[in-house]
Amino acid sequence: MLTIPVDDRTQLRLLELSHAPALFRLVASNRDHLRPWLPWVDRMRVEYDAKSYIIRSLGRFSAGTEAHFGIWFEQALAGTITAERIDAWNRVAEIGYWLGKGFVGRGIMRRSAAALIDYLIEQRSINRIEIRCTPFNRASQAIPLRLGFRLEGTLRQAAYLQGKFHDHLLFATTADRWRRTGAAREAATSTQSIPAPPAQRIAGSTEAHPRLS
Ligand SMILES: CC(C)(COP(=O)(O)OP(=O)(O)OC[C@H]1O[C@@H](n2cnc3c(N)ncnc32)[C@H](O)[C@@H]1OP(=O)(O)O)[C@@H](O)C(=O)NCCC(=O)NCCS
Repeated sequence: MLTIPVDDRTQLRLLELSHAPALFRLVASNRDHLRPWLPWVDRMRVEYDAKSYIIRSLGRFSAGTEAHFGIWFEQALAGTITAERIDAWNRVAEIGYWLGKGFVGRGIMRRSAAALIDYLIEQRSINRIEIRCTPFNRASQAIPLRLGFRLEGTLRQAAYLQGKFHDHLLFATTADRWRRTGAAREAATSTQSIPAPPAQRIAGSTEAHPRLS
């Protein structure tokens, strides 16, 4: 099993079939928390759907196009983090992530993303890493901003969520920037500004994640 250490209490483990029950339970108990941001949440209806997803993800891992990891915090599955759209020719990859509600606010995702980016750059020779999220998802934007990514622009109507199209902000870093900003990243200050959210709000989201009407 491919494992990436994050810190004393946290590990990334490539998702495998034995993780399906824990994955299904975590998604099932976090639907309201995840639904505003992740279009697939209500398609994972039974444990078999989690198994199918893991089988597909392992196939894509073998093909070299994706790598789906469970985030294990003190031996409990806390969420997932994925390298997707891995383009080996151009050495570009995108990262996506989520945590169960009980695990947010502890820096788990910031550290997990940093560990995955180290792996992609140092072991998979990826040069450019992208993170995309809606302008309303301030918690998600905070991850690339804390990790020294640059906001490169807006992808118009790049996401279809809850029956509406939404723009995506595109954040990216490159291997040279990642290595250059390593020390500053360790310091992980909270001084970087997060783009102001537009007036619309997303249905079902929390106070920290404003709602779309
Ligand atoms: C996105 C998500 C994984 C972030 O989790 P998290 O627990 O906030 O991540 P971390 O604890 O690692 O926080 C990273 C930083 O963002 C900050 N942050 C969190 N929410 C924030 C917000 N609403 N506004 C500004 N900063 C915020 C944290 O304080 C933390 O800062 P620090 O590193 O200086 O302590 C989590 O909110 C989630 O799973 N959301 C639902 C699914 C989702 O949106 N996935 C992404 C789709 S693009």
